[in-house]
Amino acid sequence: MSAETLTITDNRTGKQYDVPIENGTIKAMDLRQIKTAEDDFGLMTYDPAFMNTASCKSRITFIDGDKGILEYRGYPIDQLAEQSSYLEVAYLLLHGELPNETQLREWTWNITHHTFINENIKKVIDGFHYNAHPMGMFEATLGALSTFYPDAKDIFNVECRRKQIHRLIAKVPTIAAFAFRHRIGMQYSYPDNDLSYEGNFLNMMFKTTESKYEPDPVLEHALTVLFILHADHEQNCSTNAMRSIGSAQTDPFSALGGAAAALYGPLHGGANEMVLRMLKEIGSVDKVPDYVKRVKAGEFRLMGFGHRVYKNYDPRARIIKQVAYEVFEVTGKDPLLDIALELERIALEDEYFVKRKLYPNVDFYSGIIYQAMSFPLDMFPVLFAIPRTSGWLAQWVELLEDSDQKIARPRQVYLGYRTRDYVPLANRELPETQSAGA
Ligand code: ACO
Repeated sequence: MSAETLTITDNRTGKQYDVPIENGTIKAMDLRQIKTAEDDFGLMTYDPAFMNTASCKSRITFIDGDKGILEYRGYPIDQLAEQSSYLEVAYLLLHGELPNETQLREWTWNITHHTFINENIKKVIDGFHYNAHPMGMFEATLGALSTFYPDAKDIFNVECRRKQIHRLIAKVPTIAAFAFRHRIGMQYSYPDNDLSYEGNFLNMMFKTTESKYEPDPVLEHALTVLFILHADHEQNCSTNAMRSIGSAQTDPFSALGGAAAALYGPLHGGANEMVLRMLKEIGSVDKVPDYVKRVKAGEFRLMGFGHRVYKNYDPRARIIKQVAYEVFEVTGKDPLLDIALELERIALEDEYFVKRKLYPNVDFYSGIIYQAMSFPLDMFPVLFAIPRTSGWLAQWVELLEDSDQKIARPRQVYLGYRTRDYVPLANRELPETQSAGA
């Protein structure tokens, strides 16, 4: 018996089991042998919200939540944010290594030459109501794109997969910008392949009558940093959705639409939009203490605070705060910043937040920067989805190449009725306990 085992005594039967420990985990399937009788199903783990369950082995992103560490393929996030470009980071996430000059040139060329979308996709976007939320348009358009690329179903063909990866990373900014232009009733601004990935996105968003759009270098750089910080975050809710959908061997366009839907939720990528709404609702610095009181009374949560993994600080929030000041040099300071700073100051001193280890997360400042850069509120989750596309795809490829993986299919603890006879309609009474929402 190796020391790397866990001995379990089942007090129901007095039997003992030795279960191997590998990489600090035991296999949930090793518990299945623990039974009270031959026909017993065997022991399972109960872990709603995956609080203590590793769903995969991964080599992409490392997080130490207690120490506030985030690394992509071993490179610290602050070094990447300071020295790298978004496309280089996307390459790193997908290929495992930083590209050399030739690789980066080819990669950039490939992404740049897939930025256009089929003209019929424009008609899909045109079909949305004038005030449709851009994230809804974004998700739906990704699903629609799968119908334009039926070859994308060939997911075990490495060459084919590479092509879809180029297409997706290239087209998400175009879809996002077109959704925005549709929303405000402006003609679409087509990609400009002379510009950087981020510069071209700004061109597609904001170009008006100028014959050549020239992005402000400070804003372009801010977007680079924000894109790098948002590119991946290991097994978060939307990545889990991407892997779960991908495990059914769904094409990457459809799977990405599903991942984007998960990101849309206010507890995840929708939080940056909610932070801005919250700051506007607070309205002025003097109203902050009263707002914090209501949060502590449990009326609502402080958006942009707290994280499932980071219980010390979110390293991304620190970097973003610096970028905010660079952006305000160009755009002028957003008055909401003072409210945010006061909120942060009070919350970081308050016992309620300190005890629960609640710190500003990545979304706390990103929204203020986006607003200063003239992005409307409802574009914020879309701005998160653009860079996260490379992370979703890297995780999807890793899933497909992992022989441990199968279709994701959790178990349940069934607590409902067992076999009972069908009751004809005329004989039915609604039991008082039946939930109306069921
Ligand atoms: N404001 C006030 N109280 C909070 C907050 C908050 N933002 N977040 C957690 N708490 C409290 C909870 O009420 C709970 O208190 P209790 O122990 O007295 O019941 C305690 O802190 C623990 O909270 P959980 O919900 O168990 O923490 P969990 O890890 O499940 O949630 C989450 C993490 C969803 C991020 C949560 O902190 C939250 O809702 N934050 C606000 C939304 C947000 O900013 N989301 C963005 C996350 S970053 C991202 O996805 C990119």
